[in-house]
Amino acid sequence: MPYLSPALNVMIAAARKAARPLIRDFGELENLQVSHKGPADFVSNADQRTERILFEELNRARPGYSFVGEEGGLREGPDKTHRFIIDPIDGTTNFLHGVPIFAISIALEREGQLQSAVVFNPITDELYVAERSHGAYLNDKRLRVATRKNLAECLIATGIPFMARGTDEERELSLAEVKAVVSRTSGIRRCGAASLDLAFVAAGRFDAFWERGLNAWDMAAGILLVREAGGFVSNVDGTPDPFKNGDVLVANEVLHPQILKILQNPFS
Ligand code: IPD
Ligand code: CA
Ligand code: CA
Repeated sequence: MPYLSPALNVMIAAARKAARPLIRDFGELENLQVSHKGPADFVSNADQRTERILFEELNRARPGYSFVGEEGGLREGPDKTHRFIIDPIDGTTNFLHGVPIFAISIALEREGQLQSAVVFNPITDELYVAERSHGAYLNDKRLRVATRKNLAECLIATGIPFMARGTDEERELSLAEVKAVVSRTSGIRRCGAASLDLAFVAAGRFDAFWERGLNAWDMAAGILLVREAGGFVSNVDGTPDPFKNGDVLVANEVLHPQILKILQNPFS
């Protein structure tokens, strides 16, 4: 059974409450795909409503904590030592297309350190939680990163900057990295929800994940999951802090340096 701190319980309850209308919306999206208006407005409403519910629930239980969410930005509370970092729907494009790979992602930071994490896929009902120094869990199962050491046997996840995100140069770099990695491994997956990519590494499903240019809300909860599952987390330049510029690489400690080496010279 996972160790559930009082804060983690609050975060789980908030995620489950916000998920209920989201599950209904996801069902309705099927009809909206074929309506002339399309689902875009609907999805942006779902995003905003989800963040509002999360804010209301978390703020009621922990008044005063600061809060940063993708939709509403930073809302500073009087308590500067605690901050929730929220992505109400991570994997919006999947959600919009009716692909059931998206999640509510909530992290709690205390004095700049990631303390608690929830990543919840409401469609598959997979609830990932982690508490600093108490491990990571999927539902009731303790998670460990995969132990594969041979890159040729590894399945690696990544994110590729798309139209609205990133420049042509960034896309070129990303594709060169994909080419360099795919030719040395069992394959690459681009699932479209960074929080779940990280959760899948924590669960040993993927052996590694890297992506450049993420925001804190895309990765904060997932990074704690990986760390608590025994994985190694760094920036893609090899320095320790992925939050510096949003570039992240996670893997077990044997694979990590091998992948880092490939990513540092993808055009070779
Ligand atoms: C996106 C997803 C995607 C990643 C993008 C993120 P959103 O978040 O995590 O996998 O490649 O960089 O922005 O927009 O769906 O919340
Ligand atoms: Ca996101
Ligand atoms: Ca989002």
